Amino acid sequence: MYNSKIIGLGKYLPEQVVTNNDLTALMDTSDEWIQERTGIQERRWVKPRDGDTTSMMGVKAARQAIDRAGIDKDDIDFIIFATLSPDYYFPGPGVQVQKELDIKTVGALDIRNQCSGFIYAISVADNFIKTGMYKNILVIGSELHSHGLDKTTRGRGVTVIFGDGAGAAILSREEDNNKGLLSTHLHSQGEHAEELSLIAPGMGKRWVNDILTDNDPDDVSYYPHMNGQFVFKNAVVRFSEVIMEGLQTNGLGPQDIDMLIPHQANLRISQFVQKKFKLGNDQIYNNIMRYGNTTAASVPIALCEAWEEGKIKEGDTVVLAAFGSGFTWGSAIIKW
Ligand code: COA
Repeated sequence: MYNSKIIGLGKYLPEQVVTNNDLTALMDTSDEWIQERTGIQERRWVKPRDGDTTSMMGVKAARQAIDRAGIDKDDIDFIIFATLSPDYYFPGPGVQVQKELDIKTVGALDIRNQCSGFIYAISVADNFIKTGMYKNILVIGSELHSHGLDKTTRGRGVTVIFGDGAGAAILSREEDNNKGLLSTHLHSQGEHAEELSLIAPGMGKRWVNDILTDNDPDDVSYYPHMNGQFVFKNAVVRFSEVIMEGLQTNGLGPQDIDMLIPHQANLRISQFVQKKFKLGNDQIYNNIMRYGNTTAASVPIALCEAWEEGKIKEGDTVVLAAFGSGFTWGSAIIKW
């Protein structure tokens, strides 16, 4: 059995900065409320119709990751794309990346695990590499929320949180079993599926035909719904559990964490986890202040930035953890 190792990271954030004050022109909110509850100061939203889509942002992040990995695009054996905001209902964005990067006819897999999407994606990649099936896998997390949010006071509880962006990683075969991804841990609890969800259009409760026929201005079924406090309460418990599960599996404790990259859900959630595990400010990375919550993109963007800033060095124990819609949650323990 092999291990897998991250040999290249990339990210892409759209240029347009949307501050909390900018949002006050659209809805009844305030910089003070948003910062106090979430820590967010600004986020990036794509400019409509300038070419930035979920798949194209993923492609831009992927190009940087491929360059930094020092491999050729034709060395990639497999593509995994995590998102909740695909360009099309079908097919998923994995094949769009394959086309855009002009990669030969390798397999492309789309992952539907929302905020935990990147952790699920690297877990799948890791296991393909472990068995020897593939050698270099491109993993992308990309999200375009801004076109699908209710930008009125009605939607303010959700809309102020989310931002657009993409992150990418190249996972590659590693012969040394003490290096790279040591373990990944995945969980879900479907009984809470609708507490953080976007129901329509879907083939279950609300079809496209229903929406068109009803033509109801009060219909919010095609906007994200979030039971914020319930999500918050579950998130702090599950983040803590799944980080401990990963550490214990590897005979480690919180004191061994060199860098924790939590999914950027809410700064208050990250601060809770930091306090619980008694981590110093140099042992946890947060960028939600600048980008908001970018769902499946948040972990790879934060990981990429922490690495760019020299905060992750060879030999470090790096922990990734995420929680979100599903509910789904997971962690990855990495020896860098
Ligand atoms: N600006 C101003 N006021 C707002 C607002 C906004 N953007 N959004 C909601 N409010 C109001 C509400 O209407 C409510 O008013 P009321 O008391 O008059 O009814 C009040 O603020 C409190 O709302 P509530 O939803 O209880 O706030 P909260 O303290 O739970 O904070 C969240 C809301 C969303 C910030 C918080 O619940 C949260 O962060 N949850 C987890 C989110 C998350 O992590 N999601 C992604 C999962 S990966």
